Amino acid sequence: MTTLTLPGLIDVHTHLRVPGGEHKEDFATGTAAALAGGITMILGMPNTSPPLTTPSALHTAYALAAADCRCDVGLFAGASPEDVRHLPELGETAVALKIYLNDTFGKLRVEDVPTLRACFRDWPRHKLIAMHAEKQSVAVGIGLAATYDRPVHFCHISRREEIELIADAKMRGLPVTCEVTPHHLFLDQADAQRLGPLGDMRPILGTPDDVAALWEHLHDTVDCIATDHAPHTLAEKHSATPPPGVAGLETSLGLMLTGVVDGRFTLDRLITLMHANPRRIYNLPAQPDTLVEVEMTPTHIQNEQMYSKCGWTPFHGREVAGRVQRVILRGQLVYENGQVLAAAGSGKVIGGQ
Ligand code: DOR
Ligand code: ZN
Ligand code: ZN
Repeated sequence: MTTLTLPGLIDVHTHLRVPGGEHKEDFATGTAAALAGGITMILGMPNTSPPLTTPSALHTAYALAAADCRCDVGLFAGASPEDVRHLPELGETAVALKIYLNDTFGKLRVEDVPTLRACFRDWPRHKLIAMHAEKQSVAVGIGLAATYDRPVHFCHISRREEIELIADAKMRGLPVTCEVTPHHLFLDQADAQRLGPLGDMRPILGTPDDVAALWEHLHDTVDCIATDHAPHTLAEKHSATPPPGVAGLETSLGLMLTGVVDGRFTLDRLITLMHANPRRIYNLPAQPDTLVEVEMTPTHIQNEQMYSKCGWTPFHGREVAGRVQRVILRGQLVYENGQVLAAAGSGKVIGGQ
């Protein structure tokens, strides 16, 4: 059996639900799930309750992360029309700024030009702006990147029209990057039908042609694989108003390794997409003496084995090509043979001062 040694993977798109959604996930459980998935650094999203749009909310979340995280965690600040005056102060602390242009879970939204202008003028130039942008909103983001001559990162790109627009922008030399999620690579509309609310997320699952476009562009236009780990409880998912989102931290590496074994892309490219590019694009610190050992043996994804508090995945029952055997973070054994060994609070926060 082959054992692979990989660098600690970085997930630049995780929902950790603190504060306000601790019944779905918290820093201790979310970072345990990350380690179980071979991920040693995650960036947490700001659509919490309250959202991370003020210095006090951001500081509170950072303090809770420092107390509880088992791997390294940085946090996004959120953009909102009510709180634009806080952008410079948020920019001293957060790793990056997130702007939600389209409908999704939570109330954070930016739908007016003055707020977008404030974001692009007032957010520190050395820190990234990331966007939830779908369809023509991607063109808005590209226009802003060009106008203000500063990088924009597009989250969870899922449609052919979007990835092709980004490819065109890159060809013009514009400073744009993007990520895709494993669920948009491995599931499509037919799975959404089969899974019902368990297959509902934003962006929604694409057509087979959208999925094909993401795979085609994995070799060049796509910069990162990111999970968009968005845990919700099964009770919430089966309610009359199911929230969008699925867990992803524990299934991402196994799925992507399956793509490598199937000859769809190379292991080198996987490391670029899941470690090197995330680190470079978000300017993240190195993690010395950190590695992930993977056993390349066919393995079934199981709800029962999850560390995420939500306890379910749309990939339950699916066979993937490998499983994480051991994770070492800064010289410490933090995961081995299905057991998370890192104590809550042993991870580091990135930013947060
Ligand atoms: O499906 C999603 N769920 N997409 C998002 O953009 C947000 C996320 C969540 O926070 O649940
Ligand atoms: Zn999003
Ligand atoms: Zn998200």
